[in-house]
Amino acid sequence: MNALPLFELRDLIVRYKGVQGRVEVVSGVSLTVEQGTCLAIVGESGSGKSQSFLSALGLTSSVPEIQGAALFRGHDLINMPKKDLNALRGDRIGFVFQNPHSFLAPHLRIESQMLEALRGRGAMNRSEQRLAARVALSSVRIEDPERVLQSFPFEISGGMAQRVMIAIAMINAPDLVIADEPTTALDASVRNSVLKLLREAVDRRGAGLIIITHDIGAAAGLADAIAVMYAGRVIETGPAASILASPAHPYTRGLIAAAPKLTGARQPRLQALPGGPPPAGLALDGCPFADRCPTVRTACRTTAPDLRPVGPGRLSACWIETAEIVA
Ligand SMILES: Nc1ncnc2c1ncn2[C@@H]1O[C@H](COP(=O)(O)OP(=O)(O)OP(=O)(O)O)[C@@H](O)[C@H]1O
Ligand SMILES: [Mg+2]
Repeated sequence: MNALPLFELRDLIVRYKGVQGRVEVVSGVSLTVEQGTCLAIVGESGSGKSQSFLSALGLTSSVPEIQGAALFRGHDLINMPKKDLNALRGDRIGFVFQNPHSFLAPHLRIESQMLEALRGRGAMNRSEQRLAARVALSSVRIEDPERVLQSFPFEISGGMAQRVMIAIAMINAPDLVIADEPTTALDASVRNSVLKLLREAVDRRGAGLIIITHDIGAAAGLADAIAVMYAGRVIETGPAASILASPAHPYTRGLIAAAPKLTGARQPRLQALPGGPPPAGLALDGCPFADRCPTVRTACRTTAPDLRPVGPGRLSACWIETAEIVA
């Protein structure tokens, strides 16, 4: 058993230079993924979920200023030479992008892109690589792999492109898969089987899986641990079952109340969280959730709470006593 965690973010800060100065989009995120486990990153749009991982892996479209560390088996990806980082990505770390069509090269058939992903597997000859590409497509429930392999990305649907990307991310049996909203373009039956497939890879090979999603319901039954993000920060984290059963942070409670699959009850109207997160870069004195919080107190307006222990393996960033919230 390797003593080092499979993947770790340590105090990650990501800032972009804008016309009005620096905009901080990730503000000190720390989290750990152990081998053979699945961590779900949940939160609303704009909470910094994608940026935390894209920046850690050098995959952002523009170059941000980054502080902190992103450790893969103890090796810091942020200061790693580009050549080594490229070798790790696609081989030991598979990334499923939120927008498949932006990842797939428009002028190349799917087959060329899949064979390119297998490039590092020197032991395979061309026909073995072709077979591996077909098998990878079949494993994401693509029933006509031959047609898809010969297609250009614009000839396949968004859902199909998403599955192709998952197949590419998994094709080299990576040790860590980071899947950013991997199932948004899929219909319900395929969604469940694709999530199951991702999870099976973790269970079978002791890999690690990070699922980024705005739907906390997707984490139930899939993830071992959850990190809830809000305004570029992790505001609650811990074992998934424990968080889903008794969320400590009022924001997590709101997310769960807004997830119909989790409450099970027939709701006349989704209990959506009123309002929206503060815009990235807005200077805040107090808790970033204060304006939307049903239990806001005076202290919440002046100082942002840090994460603190609220139960076995659990942390929450809220001033209000947990006992009061969990009760
Ligand atoms: N290149 C950039 N320059 C400036 N700000 C950026 C840049 N890329 C992203 N942002 C900002 O960073 C914040 C976090 O974005 P991010 O994509 O991480 O959100 P997210 O949680 O993944 O949301 P979604 O669920 O919509 O995918 C957003 O406010 C976004 O506008
Ligand atoms: Mg995103």
